[in-house]
Amino acid sequence: MDNQARLIINGGKRLEGEICVQGSKNSALPLLSASVLVHGESTFHNCPKLSDIDASCRILACLGCKCKRSGDTVTVDAGQISEYEIPDCLMRRMRGSVIFLGSVLGRTGRCRLSFPGGCEIGSRPIDLHLSALRQMGAVITEEHGYLDCETPAGLHGAKITLSFSSVGATENILLAAVLANGVTEIHNAAREPEIVDLADCLNKFGAKISGAGESTIYIEGVQRLEPNEHTVIPDRIVAGTYMCAAAITRGELILTHCEPSHMNGFIPVLEQMGVRVYPYGGGKIYLNSRKRLAAPSTVRTMPYPGFPTDVQAPFTALCSTAEGTSVFVETIFENRFRHVSELVRLGASVKVEGNVCVIEGVKKLSGAKLCASELRGGAALVVAGLAAEGVTEITGVNYIERGYETIENELRSIGADIKKVQLV
Ligand code: EPZ
Repeated sequence: MDNQARLIINGGKRLEGEICVQGSKNSALPLLSASVLVHGESTFHNCPKLSDIDASCRILACLGCKCKRSGDTVTVDAGQISEYEIPDCLMRRMRGSVIFLGSVLGRTGRCRLSFPGGCEIGSRPIDLHLSALRQMGAVITEEHGYLDCETPAGLHGAKITLSFSSVGATENILLAAVLANGVTEIHNAAREPEIVDLADCLNKFGAKISGAGESTIYIEGVQRLEPNEHTVIPDRIVAGTYMCAAAITRGELILTHCEPSHMNGFIPVLEQMGVRVYPYGGGKIYLNSRKRLAAPSTVRTMPYPGFPTDVQAPFTALCSTAEGTSVFVETIFENRFRHVSELVRLGASVKVEGNVCVIEGVKKLSGAKLCASELRGGAALVVAGLAAEGVTEITGVNYIERGYETIENELRSIGADIKKVQLV
């Protein structure tokens, strides 16, 4: 986690070239949790090199697993689980570690972790996770900032209806249900590709899951999961971010190792803006954007397959120089426009009212000193800085590195004048 660094961008360069898209952070994290359920060695290929992945491997080690990385492959040996508590310091480092709750409970029958707090983009409650696990027989006490969970009679199947299609809650229920007694149904389940990837992987390990990717998922509990290997799906959010980066510089980009079908929530918005996007075989997408873009019609973030909340920030950066007025409605998180005040420092004309953001496109942005305060908002500042005339400096690089592998190297490889320097 490099919190003493900053990105220096000399903007205005047209980006042109090819980027290989990294594996999905939001798939790799639940997959690493799933390895706890396996009596033996799980192998994950195309695992991105990110600080959040490192944090998950530290949690696995605390639980008694042996983790090792060789290039893009991470291997986890969960033959011996000696612990069911996740250290507070690691929970605080990454609130998404709550995804270990379902797998640790499923494997050991117990789990203790500190309450995952909120973050910059919202309060991030986990009420849906806890109520579902309680329906499956977990006894969960919440006191002194800790969740103490046990399953006196083991976990059993249940018919669960989520009031919101929560990604994390769907994942925790899947992880808890695969070794539970009986059948679990999840209604109004999240349909994200990362859910399908988790189910595909668990089925390779011997689970019996059907319906992943639809609104109702069925899990028939089995006795044991066996070691196997799995390749993490491409990161659709990183792909979308680089598409915004190329588009804002009126550039040309080929993305490889991506999955165009996972991006149908936002490619139409790019096309509506005047970006030419051509998905073609073999996991490749070609994009070019030669002229000034036009503002899209209102963009509303939605659960998959709608417009993903995680690309909202990079798209607001892209729209800051598009002709016309863009409107974004953020329906998933309550505080996901924090990056806008930094875009205004570059000369963007943006107003936020509650969960609505209105952008009047300007012809030019000009470089400034900016501060990233969360992952996707930080990526949005990079996108805007690439188009801004002059020098843009961005601190808070550690936030960006939670989700983007060496973003400065990827962008430099397609013509950006960007470097990472240590704060003196
Ligand atoms: C996952 O977060 C992703 N994180 C997020 O990506 C992503 O933005 C989000 O899904 C939505 O797609 C990972 O996969 C690690 P949710 P998660 O549960 O699971 C409310 C990134 O930038 N809610 O679908 O936390 C919640 O408050 C990150 O990579 C409850 O009310 O998302 C929020 O408003 C950011 N109660 C909404 O649902 C609950 O018990 C979406 O949450 C759970 C959620």
